[in-house]
Amino acid sequence: MGNQEHFRVWRGDDETGDFVDYDVEVNEGEVVLDIIHRIQATQAPDLAVRWNCKAGKCGSCSAEINGRPRLLCMTRMSTLPPGEPIVVTPMRTFPVIRDLVTDVSFNYEKAREVRAFVPPEGVAPGDYRMQQVDVERSQEFRKCIECFLCQDTCHVLRDHEENKPAFAGPRFLMRVAELDMHPLDAAAEQGLNRKEAAQDEHGLGFCNITKCCSEVCPEHIKITDNALIPLKERVVDLKFDPLIRRKKRARRA
Ligand code: SF4
Ligand code: F3S
Ligand code: FES
Repeated sequence: MGNQEHFRVWRGDDETGDFVDYDVEVNEGEVVLDIIHRIQATQAPDLAVRWNCKAGKCGSCSAEINGRPRLLCMTRMSTLPPGEPIVVTPMRTFPVIRDLVTDVSFNYEKAREVRAFVPPEGVAPGDYRMQQVDVERSQEFRKCIECFLCQDTCHVLRDHEENKPAFAGPRFLMRVAELDMHPLDAAAEQGLNRKEAAQDEHGLGFCNITKCCSEVCPEHIKITDNALIPLKERVVDLKFDPLIRRKKRARRA
């Protein structure tokens, strides 16, 4: 028989809702998702929660625990302050479907707005050659499990619904950065300047480098340091580097 802990779980939909209290058993080694499942099994069979892998890899179980964006399946009960109520709420930045389940389709729309990798002309996929350093750079970004916790926590989206149309959020600016750094991406040959797109279409200028996105990333991706800041530097180069400006002028002439 484990300890009894007090959970406060948000129940409701996008229109209305409230906290519901549950006293529930907690055993050694359990994570918050185990406790949510126990509440479902013993007290609230209609409690809605999205999950899939229970291994921190599918990115489905994103929610907020004591106000902090976290994966329910990767948050050990032993890391939470004992004897205090544990408050579980849905991600705040996205509309609630029911209880802990949010509608994250905003993120899929933003994903669609980033134009895909453009393969280099005349090189077959198996013949792509890249320096190891370039492979490793994008490898870090590819660890993303699309949990959208970074999108949930970024204040540009979290506190300003009105920014949503203009700001892609850290996850998708990271994707733009990855493509812009990709040595084989031939987007420029098709007239797409990814740096200009980052600034003008995906709202890079909204990011004021608070780094909250990197802090909550369960894959420990250095979103700000390795993607957003380098992308900002590249955009600045595009604007102010005299050589780049001369080349641009020459192209226009
Ligand atoms: Fe989640 Fe990290 Fe990917 Fe953001 S970058 S969606 S926090 S895994
Ligand atoms: Fe937001 Fe991350 Fe920038 S939290 S403000 S995208 S550094
Ligand atoms: Fe897959 Fe938590 S259930 S990441």
